[in-house]
Amino acid sequence: MKIKKFIPAIALWAMGSSLACATTVGFSQVGSESGWRTSFSEAVKDEAKARNIDLKFSDAQQKQENQIKAVRSFIAQGVDAIIIAPVVETGWAPVLREAKRARIPVVIVDRNVKVNDDLYVTRIASDFKEEGVKIANWLMNETQGNCRIAEIQGTVGATASIDRAAGFNEVIAKYPNAKIVRSQTGEFTRAKGKEVMESFLKAQSANEPFCAIWAHNDEMALGAIQAVKEAGIKPGKDILIVSVDGVPDYFKAMAEGDANATVELSPYLGAPAFDVIDKYLGGDKNIPKLISTTGDVYTQETAADEYQKRSSK
Ligand code: AHR
Repeated sequence: MKIKKFIPAIALWAMGSSLACATTVGFSQVGSESGWRTSFSEAVKDEAKARNIDLKFSDAQQKQENQIKAVRSFIAQGVDAIIIAPVVETGWAPVLREAKRARIPVVIVDRNVKVNDDLYVTRIASDFKEEGVKIANWLMNETQGNCRIAEIQGTVGATASIDRAAGFNEVIAKYPNAKIVRSQTGEFTRAKGKEVMESFLKAQSANEPFCAIWAHNDEMALGAIQAVKEAGIKPGKDILIVSVDGVPDYFKAMAEGDANATVELSPYLGAPAFDVIDKYLGGDKNIPKLISTTGDVYTQETAADEYQKRSSK
């Protein structure tokens, strides 16, 4: 009986060991601009630890040139695989060709890259356009399509900004009385979100107030909420606040009535990325070019419960 148990254990170990000790994975991360990004980095590090993977983590501080340097250094070190969470979509072909020449598989996670898809194994990501559609539908429903909107965009050239804006704009185009009246980038950070909102509020005329702030992520929305409060306006009531991510701080803001809705973006992208790498290094090249994740719309109604759940994780 004891022997029977022992043999499958060895077999299991042998099967699962293609990503064991010696496997080295380089991960080029965008930066730490938002709470969502920090959770994503932690999820990848935790998953690497649990799988005994030697993870080489590089924080690009929101600069593509740092990412390119990091990827070149991973190639020089001869890692077994590379994960890239790209800052922007363009400018990736040369370095991805270098990885391909070195026979190092690359997995793209989160934002997209504009290259031929033979330069990477797969992309694991949410449908950013759909996020924009979902949050715009919520807002149009809430305001019966009458809304002057202040938009705080994410990083210029990043898929999350481009596609969220496209989805949102597609929906509001159907409502003649809904309009984006101000739009500027807040680079996905809380500090910039606040700064941009302060300038919007200064430029706004008293008889044409904003009905809503549409921020491309929770972090900028949280900065904008601060600016709105400091201007003596009630966020969540006088100005509706909508965004994307679903970070604990934003659930808290919704529970307190300061924010209205968000679309959840899963930060747990480490496990699917390592699963793909495991499969690929194990010889299975039959991997789809896009692996999608989805998220629901959350509002004030369930915010307190969601905050409890998320902050105790
Ligand atoms: O690319 C995804 C976006 O990047 C997240 O919505 C945002 O929080 C992060 O900075």
